Amino acid sequence: MSVLGAGVIGMGMGASHVEAFSNHPSTEVRGVCDVNLDRARAVAGRYNIGLATGDYRELLRRDDIHIISVSTPDMFHEEQAVAALEAGKDVLCEKPMALHIEECERMIAAADRTGRRLMIGQVCRYTPGFMLAKRLIDRGDIGELFFAESEYAHDYAGLTGWRSDPKIMREPFIGGACHAVDLVRWIAGDMEEVFAYANRRVLTDWPVDDCTIATFKFLSGAVGKVFCSIGCKRPYTMRSVFYGTKGTIITDNTSPAIDLCATGLPETAGGFIKLPVNINSHNVTSEVAELVSAILENRPVNTDGREGARTVAACRAAVESAATGKPVKVRTEF
Ligand SMILES: NC(=O)c1ccc[n+]([C@@H]2O[C@H](COP(=O)([O-])OP(=O)(O)OC[C@H]3O[C@@H](n4cnc5c(N)ncnc54)[C@H](O)[C@@H]3O)[C@@H](O)[C@H]2O)c1
Repeated sequence: MSVLGAGVIGMGMGASHVEAFSNHPSTEVRGVCDVNLDRARAVAGRYNIGLATGDYRELLRRDDIHIISVSTPDMFHEEQAVAALEAGKDVLCEKPMALHIEECERMIAAADRTGRRLMIGQVCRYTPGFMLAKRLIDRGDIGELFFAESEYAHDYAGLTGWRSDPKIMREPFIGGACHAVDLVRWIAGDMEEVFAYANRRVLTDWPVDDCTIATFKFLSGAVGKVFCSIGCKRPYTMRSVFYGTKGTIITDNTSPAIDLCATGLPETAGGFIKLPVNINSHNVTSEVAELVSAILENRPVNTDGREGARTVAACRAAVESAATGKPVKVRTEF
């Protein structure tokens, strides 16, 4: 098979999936879908794509489409990913994998049943600064991690639509902070327990709390925290700090360098040094490249359904802790 056909559902974030698949030498976008047909047609026109439809099942019926990107709002991920897997497609599903653990379980079962790949788009694993931080930490440059923190600080003021729909109750700690939770999980490992507090002081007309702070105990013995605010008055950031026994790394998703201070590096004796990185907060190109490589090399993907579900489970546990005022165990087995 020389070129893989791709179909993309949802033309918000999905438009960047279309761009990434269109630019990849081994894939061609052969269909796009959006219930807002004008949006689908506009993207199809821009990339010269033959099929624009309002019904995603039309993409699934096409034999020349091998990969489906599910880039619709969170509450449609399960239905569309399961249908695509059942139709024999490999699937790239946007984060969060789903809003509820039961949905994740059904998606994992569909991937197991069909033997197709289900990749969850935890795109921060492709952010250059975070990738460098992980490389240095895995190499032991800052010793043993004892504290890891990240945040999702994003001003949603003025945003309308499904994110603030009371029928959906999209928890920002799941929908947004899953980026930060997945990042600390990727670097510090799975969590054992979480305790969280939440409030709603800015987006007071939203149906869910707009601020959450969750403290985690990791299985490794390290501790950490994830802060989430969708009402904060500042540009979007995922400032993250990793403290090890021999050094510290400060990084985020929008700076041209990460800060490193390590006892093994004499040049950091006076404080932090800057290690340059490219700025690429949402590196969908690398995410798509990982899926295509996995298909072409006939290997599993890095962030499969079980990995996506572990991140949802950690987020869910934090939401439950904030609601009950009690520590909650984090499920890690899927
Ligand atoms: N990776 C990231 O950093 C990132 C960034 C933004 C959004 N997301 C995720 O991407 C997904 C989409 O978010 P968005 O910001 O693009 O939302 P959006 O509202 O901007 O766009 C969603 C699009 O999907 C269409 N749509 C809705 N229901 C549909 C259906 N049943 N079938 C086909 N099309 C449908 C809508 O008409 C809309 O055009 C969400 O899961 C979100 O969490 C990820």
